[in-house]
Amino acid sequence: MSRGGDPFAGRLFVLSSGEELARAAAGRLWGIVRERDAVLARGGKQASFIHVALSGGETPRRTYEILSAEPYRARFPWDRVRFYQVDERWVPPEDPRSNLRMLRESLLSRAPAAGSNVCFVDTGLSGPMEGARRYEEALRAAFPVPPGSFPRFDAILLGIGKDGHTASLFPGGPETAAGDEWVVASEGGEPRVTRVTLTLPVLSAAAQVVFLASGAEKAKALRDVLSGDQALPASRISPAKGKVTFLADLPAASLAHGKGGRERR
Ligand code: 6PG
Repeated sequence: MSRGGDPFAGRLFVLSSGEELARAAAGRLWGIVRERDAVLARGGKQASFIHVALSGGETPRRTYEILSAEPYRARFPWDRVRFYQVDERWVPPEDPRSNLRMLRESLLSRAPAAGSNVCFVDTGLSGPMEGARRYEEALRAAFPVPPGSFPRFDAILLGIGKDGHTASLFPGGPETAAGDEWVVASEGGEPRVTRVTLTLPVLSAAAQVVFLASGAEKAKALRDVLSGDQALPASRISPAKGKVTFLADLPAASLAHGKGGRERR
């Protein structure tokens, strides 16, 4: 399933444990950022930012901890990377359900990432619709693209829910039918709260999408996503000019036999 000569494209990498999964994910993010850094340097654009959107939930927490520790801490170009939220639950930032709280605990409070390089959903605003509108404004300022176009993140780290959702885009949800919005509000998931999320077209406009799946409860969803079940939002991330990589631990990949060019690491 590899596309355009990229050995990673569209492939499923199976890691022997949750810890190995987190290490592989940190290595993949580092690899993408380093490659982008080199491309920008070759193009004389050393000052340009590298744009990375990060998911919440529990699976990526260990990845973020590893990325904020050595050897990545000293090597990662923190001053050149802008971090964004893929989605947020509409709860205060100190709430245990807050994705921003998880990001702060596992990455932003540990790594030398300047606060000015973190673009987050402000859940202190009047409501999720306002939150979505203001977050989209911030993204449009960061990505000045023509009207009707979508921002091209250099990397987006996504999770997969048991129901095949990703970001806060849920099966059958109106948010999956978004038109040219970059950010919308949505309802669903666990915890069942209102959310603000990047839309499908934005996720599909990325240069690199990395999916993480851990645990047996994700096995059916991962199999169905790799089979291209279009009822599942996670299956509908198909970058026209980008690449998708799936990283899963053994239990999550237990039903994915022969799917996605499976490679055991
Ligand atoms: C969220 C996430 C969501 C997550 C999946 C998987 O806010 O909940 O962004 O899309 O990635 O639900 O969650 P876990 O990693 O906790 O299984």
